[in-house]
Amino acid sequence: MALKVALLGCGVVGSQVIRLMREQADDLAARVGAPLELAGVAVRRPGRRRDTDVDPALLTTDAEALVARDDVDIVVEVIGGIEPARSLILSAMKGGKSVVTANKALLAEDGATVHAAARANGADLYFEAAVAGAIPLIRPLRESLAGDRVHRVMGIVNGTTNYILDKMDSTGASFSDALEEAQALGYAEADPTADVEGFDAAAKAAILAKIAFHSRVTAADVHREGITEVTAADVAGARAMGYVIKLLAICARSDDGRSFGVRVHPAMIPRSHPLAGVREAYNAVFVEAESAGRLMFYGAGAGGAPTASAVLGDIVAVARNHLAGTRGPAESTYADLAVHPMGETVTRYHVSLDVADKPGVLARVADMFARQDVSIQTVRQEGHGDDAQLVLVTHRAGDAALSATIQGLREMDIVRDVVSVMRVEGEDIA
Ligand SMILES: NC(=O)c1ccc[n+]([C@@H]2O[C@H](COP(=O)([O-])OP(=O)(O)OC[C@H]3O[C@@H](n4cnc5c(N)ncnc54)[C@H](OP(=O)(O)O)[C@@H]3O)[C@@H](O)[C@H]2O)c1
Repeated sequence: MALKVALLGCGVVGSQVIRLMREQADDLAARVGAPLELAGVAVRRPGRRRDTDVDPALLTTDAEALVARDDVDIVVEVIGGIEPARSLILSAMKGGKSVVTANKALLAEDGATVHAAARANGADLYFEAAVAGAIPLIRPLRESLAGDRVHRVMGIVNGTTNYILDKMDSTGASFSDALEEAQALGYAEADPTADVEGFDAAAKAAILAKIAFHSRVTAADVHREGITEVTAADVAGARAMGYVIKLLAICARSDDGRSFGVRVHPAMIPRSHPLAGVREAYNAVFVEAESAGRLMFYGAGAGGAPTASAVLGDIVAVARNHLAGTRGPAESTYADLAVHPMGETVTRYHVSLDVADKPGVLARVADMFARQDVSIQTVRQEGHGDDAQLVLVTHRAGDAALSATIQGLREMDIVRDVVSVMRVEGEDIA
């Protein structure tokens, strides 16, 4: 007997799910052990042109009724956003139906509610497509590495910002010119806020940290900085030193292992680092685990077909579980580690200062760093006279100490401007 799939949403991702289900029907049936059949497709505007052929008889604007149908076995949510996606998923689970979703926003904001509903109703919740599109990352973390201890997950999880930073690096373009190009090519939305301000990457970081460290994390726990302040001069300065600027999502255990930090911000990484070679809109994630060592996952982080590939993989897994009368992995938060504040994060910093070209300036600047116990690894002066800039790179220091140093520098009469402050990451790997 066929397993019936209710599809909620038929946009960029949903239309490709329908196409793949149709084109690969025989293979999918063989892999699952039963045919998969579309029970219905919920949309908002049924008359809209779709990217694939959809039987008009399957379309409905009543998603609630579709989810509640007795003959539906699996619900696939690719609407996005918090509501009505959350209510629909909860209704599906109440009816004992397993759910596949690509919804990072919902999982990062209120994953606990949907996971609890899955547990209470004996339903599966699979969400491979919610982080880094086609790249298998959730399953490796949830299943393949279930016997290991993950120390750090660090990656490029937003294609739009990677495209923009890559253009800035390779052509010398400004942020706004690179953004305009990304928009013209369809890599960035008309309203790019979610991407360029780091919200999208922060949602993914929350999901990754939760799985990696078996602890509760929401988007609100993630320290977030976007790329709108990154200038062409920052990119050129990094290039001159053999670094490249990337927007990184970093989830890292503290040295004592009792807490972890989750952050999204632009950072300089050495050009020899594997993540430095991730160009255009590609994504890549580096995972460091105690026994497995260093693993890297690379591929298309978005797009209709790549994301639908991840959704289909989940549909097959859920369908197999359904037939076997079993369930996939449940939410795992047993470790209950705390998320430490950003101020406790320890890393290195690259600081550019516009300073007066006078004797004694360097000593006074160095003293300001020393007062906060931030030690300087290198310092060099660029230009002279009115154009003089001091460029300092620190040893590892706490974020709170660095912030206090910057505050102190801003108040010094000899410092005309703090031109840029950028974290330096990944030197242990390069
Ligand atoms: N696009 C990607 O590359 C990508 C990558 C990874 C993850 N995702 C995730 O996948 C999900 C879907 O993204 P998408 O890009 O496919 O979005 P999309 O193109 O905007 O499609 C959304 C679909 O949901 C339908 N919809 C909206 N409100 C609805 C409602 N109240 N009831 C029923 N249907 C409703 C829309 O109907 P109409 O078509 O009639 O307007 C549309 O078909 C999101 O969670 C997103 O974060 C997307």
